[in-house]
Amino acid sequence: MMVKKVGLIGWPVAHSISPAMHQAAFQALGLHDWRYELAPIPPDIVRQGLRALRDEGGFIGVNVTIPLKQAVMPYVRPDEQARAVGAVNTIDFRDNSGMNTDVDGFLDDLAAHGIAVAGERVIVLGAGGAARAAAYGLARAGAEVIIVNRTFSRAQDLAASLASSAGLQHITAQTLDEAAEQGARLVVNCTSAGMWPQVEETPWIEGVPFPAGAAAYDMVYRPSVTRFMRQVEASGGQAIGGLGMLVRQGAASFARWTGQTPPLEVMFGAARAALASSG
Ligand code: ATR
Repeated sequence: MMVKKVGLIGWPVAHSISPAMHQAAFQALGLHDWRYELAPIPPDIVRQGLRALRDEGGFIGVNVTIPLKQAVMPYVRPDEQARAVGAVNTIDFRDNSGMNTDVDGFLDDLAAHGIAVAGERVIVLGAGGAARAAAYGLARAGAEVIIVNRTFSRAQDLAASLASSAGLQHITAQTLDEAAEQGARLVVNCTSAGMWPQVEETPWIEGVPFPAGAAAYDMVYRPSVTRFMRQVEASGGQAIGGLGMLVRQGAASFARWTGQTPPLEVMFGAARAALASSG
């Protein structure tokens, strides 16, 4: 039996729940010759690492995580979406293409929760890679995007960069006070504040009223309920954690590599179990 290998590159990758999620999906579909393996690659040898996995390792494709999502760009053929986001999270070595399934994972999960963003104001908290993917996806879906960040100049830079590189309108930077006062349909946390083990942090400054009627999406999935989500719920808003985005970006990668419809419920179950057992 010729084993078909895919996996995860990053530095480090040890605590990922992706292997559990993908292995469960392979098993559910009877894809017994497929394996999902962790492949740590230090940032200074990305090019050699990719070549080794493809040429000697026999890998069909990989997921890409921190800190390599930007670093792999010169060595693959990024599709339009990956180029606009400036980051690749999925590679298919068969044609050396690079994709970004984080964007669709996020938009699909919003839709699954009944949140439509077209024509709505959406506040994006953060100005790093995760915020860039979210702002791009939201603007593409027709939202008016307000970027808010602890370091305001980075919010301004991100808004300007998306407007010029991706040709997206309706992306501006505001302070948290301004943005909150003007209201929004949705607030998305794309910062690392509140992520385990810094569970007491939050990107929402205490004392700033949460916009009435707004829902919140927290890209953080560990812990499953963050301090930010508790703040939102205390003010009467709906708060959604980031597990669904994680599962759906993985499902999109799985579909690309295997050509099969991903078993979403199996992947959700495996992801929840892996998170529960890792504390
Ligand atoms: P990524 O690529 O994963 O988005 P990043 O580029 O390091 O990571 O960006 C992290 C984001 O989280 C930044 O927007 C950062 O704010 P600054 O630009 O001011 O550094 C934000 N962030 C991290 N910790 C935070 C905290 N405790 N409160 C608010 N924002 C925080």
